[in-house]
Amino acid sequence: MKAIRIHQFGPTEEALQYEDVPTPEPGPSELLIKIEAASLNRADIGLRKGTYRISSDALPIIPGREFAGVITKVGTGVTEFNMGQRVVAYPSLGGYADYAVAKPSEVRPVPDGVTAVQAAALPTVFLTAWFGLLEDGRLKAGEWLLVQAGSSGVGNAAIQIGKHLGAKIITTSGSEEKCQRLRQLGADVTIDVSQNDFVPEVMRVTENRGVDVILEMIGGEVYDKSLKALAPGGRLFSIGGAFGAIPDPPPTLTEGRRASRFSITNHLKAKPQDFRQLDVILKLVQERKFQVVIGKTFPLAETRAAQRYLEGREHFGKVMLTM
Ligand SMILES: NC(=O)c1ccc[n+]([C@@H]2O[C@H](COP(=O)([O-])OP(=O)(O)OC[C@H]3O[C@@H](n4cnc5c(N)ncnc54)[C@H](OP(=O)(O)O)[C@@H]3O)[C@@H](O)[C@H]2O)c1
Repeated sequence: MKAIRIHQFGPTEEALQYEDVPTPEPGPSELLIKIEAASLNRADIGLRKGTYRISSDALPIIPGREFAGVITKVGTGVTEFNMGQRVVAYPSLGGYADYAVAKPSEVRPVPDGVTAVQAAALPTVFLTAWFGLLEDGRLKAGEWLLVQAGSSGVGNAAIQIGKHLGAKIITTSGSEEKCQRLRQLGADVTIDVSQNDFVPEVMRVTENRGVDVILEMIGGEVYDKSLKALAPGGRLFSIGGAFGAIPDPPPTLTEGRRASRFSITNHLKAKPQDFRQLDVILKLVQERKFQVVIGKTFPLAETRAAQRYLEGREHFGKVMLTM
């Protein structure tokens, strides 16, 4: 089969090698999946550079946190899935390939009417937004939610989940064109941060109170300034500092405000059964209540170009691979 492998971490996409590799064999409690689509995530860039969770002893690896396709082999001990079934898998590696193995606990069925590209785009960004907003954010109907970087994969998901939960959404983006698309997606207020400082805008919109919940993912100055936009009793949770540092541990705040860090990987390690929340999300996609925004799709052979595109600031929504 064809796959993208990393033999040596590197700063540019040259670290990604498009190669012929043996098709993996599933063990007795595993499934083999013919991949139709796989998702790129910001974490893949860190993985390629050697800064995300995997050490060089584990190389070579096939990146790709999540993918969707059809089951072509079922291990003898597996009872809950069948050959030919359409599924989405979230095993955290292996997705940049024609085939991959996954454990049943990392796999969910894809309902009719949801494409492989849509399904593969969901787990990381929708589960992060869902559990982050509900567990760390404790978001309630009627509250103000600020989503930083609304045009990111997680941002797009958070805007829709926030609306679904009855919140009022403010979001930031780097261009007016993206802001317009974010309003179409359900954001009540958008702030073009290339033109305006977001803190005074948030304070103006919330009549000087600030927001109840902030989903932060940029880091650095944006993290620090976000704290100033938090209402008394408000919750800021950070899911990463892709573009700047974030304080570790999170700062202690005044007037009941709280800052925390959220990781979907750590969350699902602690509560593996929460992966089944993906069924609810898939159903909402099937019912057209959630949109899966696909920025651009590349063939597997062009994964280098896909990662280059993700690293730039042009995209809106998910960047995907098809096989
Ligand atoms: N903790 C977790 O469980 C978890 C899970 C998933 C993702 N994450 C993190 O969440 C963040 C978003 O991930 P994603 O995959 O959804 O991101 P993404 O789709 O790659 O989007 C990132 C967005 O950030 C905005 N941005 C702001 N400052 C930027 C800068 N200096 N350079 C480039 N872009 C900038 C850009 O939008 P504009 O141009 O509109 O500003 C860009 O579209 C990442 O930090 C990722 O590591 C964490």
